[in-house]
Amino acid sequence: MTDSRLTVGILGAGRVGKAIAALLRTAGYDVAMAGSLDDPGTVVSADVVVLAVPLHQYRNLPDLAGTLVIDAMNYWWELDGSRPEFEDATTSSSEVVALHLPGARIVKTLNHLSGYALEELARPRGSADRIAVAVAGDDSADTEVVATLVDHMGFEPVRAGKLAYGVKFEPLTEAFGADASAAELHDMLERFWGSQRGRVVARARGL
Ligand SMILES: NC(=O)c1ccc[n+]([C@@H]2O[C@H](COP(=O)([O-])OP(=O)(O)OC[C@H]3O[C@@H](n4cnc5c(N)ncnc54)[C@H](OP(=O)(O)O)[C@@H]3O)[C@@H](O)[C@H]2O)c1
Repeated sequence: MTDSRLTVGILGAGRVGKAIAALLRTAGYDVAMAGSLDDPGTVVSADVVVLAVPLHQYRNLPDLAGTLVIDAMNYWWELDGSRPEFEDATTSSSEVVALHLPGARIVKTLNHLSGYALEELARPRGSADRIAVAVAGDDSADTEVVATLVDHMGFEPVRAGKLAYGVKFEPLTEAFGADASAAELHDMLERFWGSQRGRVVARARGL
């Protein structure tokens, strides 16, 4: 199957869900989207499902076993409330989500862009001012499928390693919210372990 024939379902019809849907439709993808009151049936049967709901909704997500899932969510305590499972530095938020979606093939990306960047800063490949987006996942083939989607959406994909390394572009990191080139984002991800947040995570993980 070529990438442009992939169908994409988006759970969450808010600012991020709508922006991602618009970019993918412009790129020629068949996109379905569902908000909290919609039947998620069409969305969950898509080839790729994007999670664009408030993170505290993760326990209410449908069964996505076997599905390639993009986690675009962040732990944002003002919206999500205090959630101990997301304040535990031993696991990235995507790993917590993965535990609740057994069998889902999760790739973390797009979460560290602002709503403004998603809406306004997409550029075709080769543009001098194209900004980069980190992509982290445990399966290299899945990660490449998602990197291609990101590329088609108008952002430069930067491979960030396994899903656990999604912690490098969560809130409280240098990469979070940065409108950076691929080289700049790569350097930010490299610098993570020397950052304050990186030291907290390393200590918690016994690294
Ligand atoms: N805003 C940003 O700049 C930004 C950037 C990157 C990533 N993110 C992350 O992206 C996610 C969405 O953020 P947002 O700004 O788009 O939020 P938002 O504008 O509040 O939209 C959230 C959407 O999710 C829907 N929803 C809630 N629970 C659901 C469920 N169980 N099933 C299906 N849909 C559900 C809501 O529907 P109702 O309106 O019917 O409740 C709403 O359509 C968050 O995790 C956020 O951290 C945000």
